[in-house]
Amino acid sequence: MRARSAEYITAAAKPRGYPPAAGPEIAFAGRSNVGKSSLINALAGVSGLARTSRTPGRTRLLHWFAIRPPKGKDIAFVDLPGFGYAKVSKTERESWRPLVEGYLANRQVLRAVVLLIDCRRGVQDEERDLAAWIEELGVPVIPVLTKIDKIPKSKRKPIADEARRELGAGPAPICFSALKNLGSEALWGSIAKAVTAPKPG
Ligand code: GTP
Ligand code: MG
Repeated sequence: MRARSAEYITAAAKPRGYPPAAGPEIAFAGRSNVGKSSLINALAGVSGLARTSRTPGRTRLLHWFAIRPPKGKDIAFVDLPGFGYAKVSKTERESWRPLVEGYLANRQVLRAVVLLIDCRRGVQDEERDLAAWIEELGVPVIPVLTKIDKIPKSKRKPIADEARRELGAGPAPICFSALKNLGSEALWGSIAKAVTAPKPG
């Protein structure tokens, strides 16, 4: 299942560079190299839309995409910079937090954050802390296990159950593969639900 149309809008680091808040936004967060850009491309059905990187950790900007979902009104996807890449400088690593938290905490049109977790690494402190912090803002988290093609079918459910426990309460993670195109229907379903849900508060 893929978007009816998808287009790149812009990139920004600071709020004054953000595009106007035109409609609901869905952000994609996760460790560097977890597969964010690949997942966005898979949902969009456009292979080169969000760039996939050979040099991980190079996406230090937020990237916006205009998306016409399989069903329903237009939305925007926001590809957030990845965290936890060891080979970047300390300054660069420390710039991640204000960049991403500034967006997450202040963007009124943000409807959900898709939190990507590499199925082979599982949930670690960074993912757990980020999920809890986003939930505290009153924004729903949609957990996704990426690169699920790398794990035998029989191990997928136990790994998803474990990830769910590690994240505390909340929905079961969606098993996703950009390579084998698995999980996009389930993820589109969760996104549609988040977009149409009444905003709390
Ligand atoms: P940064 O922007 O650098 O933080 O990375 P990213 O999270 O956007 O990851 P990206 O989509 O660039 O993918 C990183 C690497 O993982 C690439 O080599 C991809 O080809 C690979 N990859 C992404 N998704 C999948 C998948 O579903 N299956 C497999 N086997 N590999 C994948
Ligand atoms: Mg990327």
